[in-house]
Amino acid sequence: MEWGMRNRLSRIINPHTGRSVMFAVDHGYFQGPTTGLADLGRMVNPLLGFADALMITRGALRNWIPPTMDKPVVLRVSGGQSILKELSNEIITTSIEEAIRINASAITCSVYVGGEYEKETIGNLSRIINEGAMYGIPVLAVTAVGKDLVRDARYLSLASRICVELGAHMVKTYFCEDGFDKVIEACGDVPVIIAGGKKIEERAALGMAKKAVEQGACGVDMGRNIFQSDRPLGMMKAVRAIVHDNVSVDEAYTIYRNE
Ligand code: 5RP
Repeated sequence: MEWGMRNRLSRIINPHTGRSVMFAVDHGYFQGPTTGLADLGRMVNPLLGFADALMITRGALRNWIPPTMDKPVVLRVSGGQSILKELSNEIITTSIEEAIRINASAITCSVYVGGEYEKETIGNLSRIINEGAMYGIPVLAVTAVGKDLVRDARYLSLASRICVELGAHMVKTYFCEDGFDKVIEACGDVPVIIAGGKKIEERAALGMAKKAVEQGACGVDMGRNIFQSDRPLGMMKAVRAIVHDNVSVDEAYTIYRNE
């Protein structure tokens, strides 16, 4: 791997812990003003100091995030669908030149394995991997599940491994209770981070993060379970403590409660 690509990856995944806390706030690209993110800057900017990277669209960056912020950007470059229609119908919306202008440390799009537009989304991922390779920009592949697909180890291994085989540098997938270690195994040396998914009770979300890193995930790319919490800063700090400091779920929950 070239120096520039490695340098960008090491801005996202802490080279000392091998772990990362990404803060995912890209939901508006198909959900519009998602609960908690209507005033995106007011929610995100106070938490940024505790995140390792920010996953976001170019429009949200320009509107709500000051260009003086120093966190690496994982730029969402796909879109084209909404919650009102078929979710897998994505295109690449943001060019590689735009990603470079924005100073993105990585680019990302979703892959809907088993979805109606499976081939097109796999094509999107392949395209951004090829374009990113020309400029040393790594790619985070998101295994999106749409509305109907089952999130079990068999499916997540299939989807994640396809992303690895196509050349993704990081894979974002979901945690599953049975066989998550198989999902990690399917990805070889490619770092795996988990999405948080729908908002659940705080202790359960922290428990999920804990189990994921114990079973080999290099961290989380969490959104709703942070920004839809009653204590977003507390959740961010608690998740960070689990990912980087290996604290227990009880300790992390206390961090959340004390905020
Ligand atoms: C949407 C995404 C989101 O960034 C991802 O789902 C993470 O957010 P959350 O923790 O809210 O699930 O990639 O396709």
